[in-house]
Amino acid sequence: MSPGGSPSVEARAKQLREQIEYHNYRYYVLDDPEIPDAEFDRLFRELQQLEKAHPDIVTEDSPTQRVGGQPVDRFREVRHAVPMLSLENAFSEEEMAEFDRRVRERLDVETVDYTGETKLDGVSISLLYEHGRLIRGATRGDGTTGEDVTHNVRTVDTIPLRLRGKGFPRLLEVRGEVFMPREGFAELNRKLEAAGSKTFVNPRNAAAGSLRQLDPRLAAERPLAFFGFGIGQVEGESLPERHSEILTALQEWGIRVSPRTRVVRGLDGCRTFYDGLAAERADLPYEIDGVVFKVDRKDQQRQLGFVSRAPRWAIAWKFPAEEAATVLRDVEFQVGRTGALTPVARLEPVFVGGVTVSNATLHNMDEIERKDVRPGDTVIVRRAGDVIPEVVRAVPEKRKRGARRVKLPESCPVCGSEVVRAEGEVVARCSGGLFCPAQRKESLRHFASRRAMDIDGLGTKLIDQLVEQGAGGKRVKNPADLYELTADDLVQLERVGAKSAENLVNALVQSKETTLARFLYALGIREVGEVTAAALAEHFGELERLEDADEEELQSVPDVGPVVARHVHAFFRQTHNREIIQRLLAAGVTWPRPTSGERSGKALAGKTFVLTGALEAFTRDEARERIEALGGKVTGSVSRKTDFVVVGSEAGSKLEKAQALGIQTLDEPAFRELISVHHTRD
Ligand code: IVH
Repeated sequence: MSPGGSPSVEARAKQLREQIEYHNYRYYVLDDPEIPDAEFDRLFRELQQLEKAHPDIVTEDSPTQRVGGQPVDRFREVRHAVPMLSLENAFSEEEMAEFDRRVRERLDVETVDYTGETKLDGVSISLLYEHGRLIRGATRGDGTTGEDVTHNVRTVDTIPLRLRGKGFPRLLEVRGEVFMPREGFAELNRKLEAAGSKTFVNPRNAAAGSLRQLDPRLAAERPLAFFGFGIGQVEGESLPERHSEILTALQEWGIRVSPRTRVVRGLDGCRTFYDGLAAERADLPYEIDGVVFKVDRKDQQRQLGFVSRAPRWAIAWKFPAEEAATVLRDVEFQVGRTGALTPVARLEPVFVGGVTVSNATLHNMDEIERKDVRPGDTVIVRRAGDVIPEVVRAVPEKRKRGARRVKLPESCPVCGSEVVRAEGEVVARCSGGLFCPAQRKESLRHFASRRAMDIDGLGTKLIDQLVEQGAGGKRVKNPADLYELTADDLVQLERVGAKSAENLVNALVQSKETTLARFLYALGIREVGEVTAAALAEHFGELERLEDADEEELQSVPDVGPVVARHVHAFFRQTHNREIIQRLLAAGVTWPRPTSGERSGKALAGKTFVLTGALEAFTRDEARERIEALGGKVTGSVSRKTDFVVVGSEAGSKLEKAQALGIQTLDEPAFRELISVHHTRD
């Protein structure tokens, strides 16, 4: 063969690419393969070998280059040129009829043509093609701004890297759903389970999790698929005037569209289509949770327009939640972070709504009594979407004689402390506090969680071991104990090597630089969630002032009522809690302290900031505006006078200089926290 780049090699590569793309199209879009898989693999391998021998002929959109890119360090934001809307739902035939009536009235017509489509349960995705080349893939996000997941969507083999044929617009944004077919999902979970990793509860979460991988090689291993269901931005060419024709055009350009798509006439047509899919649903290779109907004519769509975030011309007619009967083996009580006892139903495993369910929530004792479910009963279990499965009711006709009612345990199933249920409260609690290992584990989990102290790598299994057996002879009882662990202690844990022990110690060190709001949230004070923690941090500015506040002053904080005030006050009255806080501070937990200027005037008065690198949520100018609005100053270079250096991605020498001078750096989350906690009040 002639050397790389020579016409014959290049020509052959081009030919192979075209053949591969054509057979992909036959296979995925037309669902009508022309050649056996082995033949396809042979073409693919030939191309791979050719490209390996002649690296200079590789093109970015060659079918071999799906997993080409390097891992990304974060997801960039993408603003959608045309907002990605959501759909209104109909949960019954009446609601569907109501929708059709409104549409007909607004259009002033007798009957409407709709396109009926499957409502896939996956992740909404926008694919941008420029001159037929896939240049960007993005998630829906909040509809206006999503995340750039190009590196991952490129690995989905049903998404063409190049559009076929001619006649497609210069710029074409295809919208559709990335999902995980049932079989691939089951296989993935089997693998995860075998590897001792956490499994996914449903295909939708699995698809979302896969798209959120930073490393495209990981996404490539996930069996993802794509169906297009519409378009967004279009430039350069006009598209057909019917939605169904647009879908046909997309198919011709190589985009896979759900084969269960059909134009139907009026409400009757919708009903037939819905019933047909409802019957077929269980046999489909992927999960659907309903049917989508869209007014087919584009002019009618335009006439109908939008309400807030959903079009008036489309609706999702959802299937009812799935239910199944099984046997309740037992009811056990789980103890949460605040000691709350939650009854959990242990069930004979049952397949419902696409997953096997063996546990379901019973919420609380009142619910159990109301539903009168007893161990041994046949019960109805329901699973809707990705919510936790629940026991709906018992089937009393099938009750065995002598079935006993569930009793609230008098003592905690974990630590044996007394269980108390306050007057008028639904929830019963273990009174053991941090003496109870279950509460201890849950509060450590909360302390380490991402939105609290964000201790990377300190997961459930490690916490269980640290609480139960301890490490290096030290048993972890409270958050302060965590910071006393050394790498030598940690390597003694199961499945922790030298490297991960070191990473964990680093993560512990890193977590010490936090904000007051995060710290307060991390403490896990009853009724103090993130919002309240931020409000408390903003109001008091310093921990000492909060610790000494009485209930009255606490109640003057926005959102803090008598109950929250009582819990906060009681928390700081306990010597035990104060001791732990002292130990945490002594271990080096720290946050930016307000200066005297802040308390009197604007929050960042007198503070000098330097910005370096790119931030996700702000442009430079926006960041500057926010700082200045709060009384701070932004300068261009780092000096001893700089108070904070805000560090975005790809930060340069300014970061090094800040580190050399020992100036406090803020990463984007810390910066956001700072400016959101100190939002202007005027
Ligand atoms: S159309 C203009 N069609 O459902 C309306 N959405 O609940 C935009 N979905 O975010 C959506 N299958 O992720 C449309 N055939 C289908 C769909 C579909 C699934 C998802 C989509 C959307 C969500 C809205």
